[in-house]
Amino acid sequence: MKNNEIFVECTDLIKIYADEKNRVRVPALRGLEMKINKGEITLCVGPSGSGKSTLLNILAGNLKPSAGVVRVGNTDIAKFTRAEMVDYRRKRVGVVWQLPQMNLIWELSASQNIQVPMRILGVPREERMARTKELLEEVELLDRAHHKPTQLSGGEIQRISLAVALSNKPELVVLDEPTGELDSQTSEKIISFFEKINEDLGVTMILATHDRRLIARGYRTMLLVDGRITSVRHGFADEKNIPVFSDAFGALQIPTNLRELFKSREDLLLSRESEEIFKIFVPKDNGKE
Ligand SMILES: Nc1ncnc2c1ncn2[C@@H]1O[C@H](COP(=O)(O)OP(=O)(O)O)[C@@H](O)[C@H]1O
Ligand SMILES: [Mg+2]
Repeated sequence: MKNNEIFVECTDLIKIYADEKNRVRVPALRGLEMKINKGEITLCVGPSGSGKSTLLNILAGNLKPSAGVVRVGNTDIAKFTRAEMVDYRRKRVGVVWQLPQMNLIWELSASQNIQVPMRILGVPREERMARTKELLEEVELLDRAHHKPTQLSGGEIQRISLAVALSNKPELVVLDEPTGELDSQTSEKIISFFEKINEDLGVTMILATHDRRLIARGYRTMLLVDGRITSVRHGFADEKNIPVFSDAFGALQIPTNLRELFKSREDLLLSRESEEIFKIFVPKDNGKE
């Protein structure tokens, strides 16, 4: 599904929460820049509190950024009015959250849950039923159509959640730690469903995750630290070649484990060794040691 067409692009994205109770402002995204390729699975990793959920909530149309551009397809969703946001959420994006209670309505069966987004759009019954069957087949749970969430396993719930997210044929599916609550065997199985659906439907997916099994699959992986992308890599980084990220202004993001070394220095030297090899010199500290 690789065609290198950029489908989502965030520029200078800032989100500052106003914490009314403690009367403080919490910067969650600090000038974030990122791109997601069309039809690909992109992962978003990073420590807790680094801004992953904030970014995904913005892409899901649940949250307005404080500043910046969030291009999805041909539209800047940061500029949406409330009504346009609702429309975007209903038609263009699907979401799967970590907690099953957030994805499904507990009183409804699997089949009824999958139909909810279609009912909201007024999809006629016949079409709705056909689509529901198709989606249940896609997640291989046709035999669970009439089960309620309490009668499903954790893994089955997330598969039904995925079917709900896909029901209105969104262009983008946003998944926030979707395997976070599952045991390793189940999450392995779920991961294969993400991959199958990505292949079958060509839908663009962004996943926030801590799941090492998922990271090891080698997808394009953005590392978020303190509300900024600090590196982009495919799978795990090796020891020798450390990925760094350069933003639109040419600022290099230094990996966290090397930050002490590079902190606010104005004496670094960049030397060009060849066409594509650059070296960064860190002069020895004279004073300290
Ligand atoms: N509704 C909110 N009000 C105030 N601060 C928030 C809110 N949501 C998140 N934050 C803060 O924003 C930062 C980023 O949080 P979050 O996006 O949830 O990170 P992650 O998903 O990577 O753990 C954290 O410091 C968090 O405490
Ligand atoms: Mg989170």
